[in-house]
Amino acid sequence: MKQKLEELKVLALAAVAEAKDEKQIDEIRVKYLGKKGELTAILKQMGSLSPEERPVMGQLVNSAKAELEEAIAKASKNFKEKAAEERLKAETIDVTLPSKPATVGKLHPLNTVLNDMIDIFQSMGFDVVDGPEVETDFYNFEALNVPADHPARDMQDTFYLAENLLLRTQTSAAQIRTMENRKPPIKIICPGRVYRADEVDATHSPVFHQIEGLVVDKNITMCDLKGVLEQFAHEIYGKDTEVKFRPSFFPFTEPSVEVDVTCSECKGKGCRVCKGSGWIEILGAGMVHPRVLKACGIDPEEYTGFAFGIGLDRLTTTRYKISDIRLLFENDLRFLKQF
Ligand code: PHE
Repeated sequence: MKQKLEELKVLALAAVAEAKDEKQIDEIRVKYLGKKGELTAILKQMGSLSPEERPVMGQLVNSAKAELEEAIAKASKNFKEKAAEERLKAETIDVTLPSKPATVGKLHPLNTVLNDMIDIFQSMGFDVVDGPEVETDFYNFEALNVPADHPARDMQDTFYLAENLLLRTQTSAAQIRTMENRKPPIKIICPGRVYRADEVDATHSPVFHQIEGLVVDKNITMCDLKGVLEQFAHEIYGKDTEVKFRPSFFPFTEPSVEVDVTCSECKGKGCRVCKGSGWIEILGAGMVHPRVLKACGIDPEEYTGFAFGIGLDRLTTTRYKISDIRLLFENDLRFLKQF
């Protein structure tokens, strides 16, 4: 029996040493140590031994069993570690692979130009204010010296929402709101969307953008208006740009002007962009009408002011040579990605 035990042990240990994977180790465990295993079988025969032989044999069997168990555990641990190592190797992330490109959003060209304009006017001391896009007839027309029957209403085809409610046709409404709420000196710009029921084509859109400017203080003259607008034109278009003030008419300013700058495309020679004239109209302006000041509770004998309204869309299309104003509003990514 002792010899058999020794043989079994040698065989089993040799099998463990030769095992190639975890599965074979398991098979060895079952073959020798399982319920019907060969070592277990020897243990079962212990009963047939004499009382003197039993403890001696028992000790031998137990130590053989322990030795085998230890060898199995060690081999099993080895295989587990090796398997884990191999899995880690297979799962390694290759940090040298190129990553997915991160897409960064960009400003809409209108916003880029608007930000430039805000910078320019802020550097001249203007505040930026906001006004509602849905306006009352009073702020959009009446208080701006355009009563209901005034022919100037025809200059701006208006979207009405209700009897006295409309989509503002001009940011000039912000002049009134500002003068109602602030005392002179006032120096503000109000950028925003405006709406007109114009027919849509390459240069007209029912929604577009204006920047209203307003300055009210003592001794403000047409010279101040010219100075500010010339400075603005030079900052936007460059120092060599000429600025022309043409007499015009707006109900809320007197006198009124329209301001042209030399066409940046042809430098005044005449081209498709300026329709051969060499000039591009960029804004309307004038000295605030005394009636408008009075309607806002400002004494026109004490204070004077000037106002201007710049078309943001025209500035943007000429700067980026965009041939159709509708492109600014369609939000086609193929177009927007170019800026
Ligand atoms: N609101 C005028 C327009 O839309 C522009 C303007 C603003 C003219 C302020 C004079 C003063 O045509």
